Amino acid sequence: MTAISNRCADMQASPIRKLVPLANAAKARGISVYHLNIGQPDIPTPHGYWKALKDSLPEVLAYGPSQGLPVLREAIATYYSRSGIHIDTDEIIITTGGSEAVFFAFMATCDHGDEVVCFEPFYTNYNGFAAMAGVKLVPITSRCENGFHLPEATEIEAKITDKTRAILICSPNNPTGTVLSPEELQTLSSIVRKHDLFLLSDEVYRDFVFDGGSHLSTLELPEIEDRVVVMDSISKRFSSCGARLGNMISRNKAVMDAALKLGQARLCPPTVAQYGAAWIYHHLSDNYYEGILATYQNRRDVLMEELTGLDGVFLLKPEGAFYATIQLPVKSADRFASWMLTDFQFEGETTMVAPAAGFYATPGLGLDQIRIAFVLSDRKMRKALRILKEGLKAYKD
Ligand SMILES: Cc1ncc(COP(=O)(O)O)c(C=O)c1O
Repeated sequence: MTAISNRCADMQASPIRKLVPLANAAKARGISVYHLNIGQPDIPTPHGYWKALKDSLPEVLAYGPSQGLPVLREAIATYYSRSGIHIDTDEIIITTGGSEAVFFAFMATCDHGDEVVCFEPFYTNYNGFAAMAGVKLVPITSRCENGFHLPEATEIEAKITDKTRAILICSPNNPTGTVLSPEELQTLSSIVRKHDLFLLSDEVYRDFVFDGGSHLSTLELPEIEDRVVVMDSISKRFSSCGARLGNMISRNKAVMDAALKLGQARLCPPTVAQYGAAWIYHHLSDNYYEGILATYQNRRDVLMEELTGLDGVFLLKPEGAFYATIQLPVKSADRFASWMLTDFQFEGETTMVAPAAGFYATPGLGLDQIRIAFVLSDRKMRKALRILKEGLKAYKD
């Protein structure tokens, strides 16, 4: 038979989704599964979203502009201006999820064979988008002893070659919950200027910074304003993962022109969902943002209470987003996570987690780690973590 492309043959399956068939089989056997594997919030999508959709139902569900509907781009510019960040609507392109923003960022800044320096563990789907764009991700390992913060500038610079086009960051971070400090962003700013690079910044979780901390956007670094490309999304901000809407922002006109060409090739982002998203951006008050932040912070605290101090379990207190990378006393977190679905249940229920190796690019790293998304209610989180602990007690490596 004719072989498929090497590009796809070499691509890894998503560690977040690859165990779904096992979860489905467990459900078919009558076992309930707590999903801590995926960043799918359970918080209801703001109600006005549905009304705004109904109110804007057109006679013909037509294509929209490739850069997205003006009403949504204006709403996003207004949202950023509330944080003192001034961007023009021309500096925003609406994408089909933050996912497409990542893809556009790679495609607009890198050629086939170019390198992007990133910090592992990283959001696993960067691997997939890098494969699609023919980009080589060059990982630098961030260590849990260091709170998964950035290593010294010299260690970062040592990875830069004549093929490097960009540094990729994600803060607040998926999968570690680490929030980069203003000093770390300054270090990156100096490095990208010194080596003439782009800074690709995934800020999808910018609203989720805990313990009274704040988020400094790379859009607030004027000295590199033409080097920054931000990837953003409404999936988590508004509990709207299924809307498939995100955006890419850059003050670099050439980058935006390139993104528009990519956008024209895929015609337009989902039209109807954009009306709902514009409504949400315009109508939600600070109370909404404060409310969801408090909800996730409580869930983070539940996670810490339940897992801190257990024999062989190590986790850091996430500073933001809603994930934690957790070391377990097992040889293969992959086998353990599968076993939880195939062979284990506690009172008719089990817990699904994501094995963390797929969040690393360096082979052999993260084998004994899992990533947990704290996206369930406090009560469900406690139950899911209780089951995880029972599983750890029963599991034989
Ligand atoms: C860090 C990060 N970037 C991008 C995305 C993609 O989000 P979207 O649902 O908007 O495609 C995710 C989704 O989980 C994410 O965690």
